[in-house]
Amino acid sequence: MRLDKKSCSEEWYRIVEEIMGCIKCKLHKTRRNPVPGEGPCNAEIMFVGEAPGGKEDETGRPFVGAAGQFLTELLSMAGLRRENVFITNILKCRPPNNRDPEPDEIEACKPYLVRQVKLVSPKIIVTLGRYAGRILLGDAGIKWSNMTRMHGKVFSVELYGVKLKIMPTYHPAAALYYPKLKPVVIKDFKETLKGLVEEIREEKRNTNRVKKRHTILDFLSS
Ligand code: URA
Repeated sequence: MRLDKKSCSEEWYRIVEEIMGCIKCKLHKTRRNPVPGEGPCNAEIMFVGEAPGGKEDETGRPFVGAAGQFLTELLSMAGLRRENVFITNILKCRPPNNRDPEPDEIEACKPYLVRQVKLVSPKIIVTLGRYAGRILLGDAGIKWSNMTRMHGKVFSVELYGVKLKIMPTYHPAAALYYPKLKPVVIKDFKETLKGLVEEIREEKRNTNRVKKRHTILDFLSS
């Protein structure tokens, strides 16, 4: 169930407030700013990365460094604007020297992501990198094998009580680091994700058409 705008933002502010004061794992000792995530709380598409990096830790905003710039380009290739999607991470605080997330950190931080997914109730989640892919698909009952096999596939699942589609892909930072991956990620966004976005838009157009027809029929029969 989608929450109405008022309760949606109230719950969002509660989540943000809790993350800002969170001391559930050791990362609170080394972070500068927690990074809760950003975007409209009724966004239809959600992106989940791994953890904030240096620039994100400095600003408190997700994906604002080099990987973020590339993500913004990828979004536009899929016909999306950054301000219309919800962007967050598995971990809300930066691991020192950008090391991999540790199991106790993931366990401590995941309840925030679960609440974000329930709140936003997106139609599509794009997981960026193997951590987000493994964790979210795992929680949706899909066994993770490896990125080479899983990327660009679309899984229709129920995740934390929300029916949605998950498309795993490579992390934008990996694509910047290994140029061979760049065209692979671009294809996932430009073809697969764009196709999903168009499906959502078409569904919306059809729903609006049916609504309009009902309104006209109601008017004529009144
Ligand atoms: N990498 C991530 O996974 N998340 C960010 O917010 C930035 C870089």
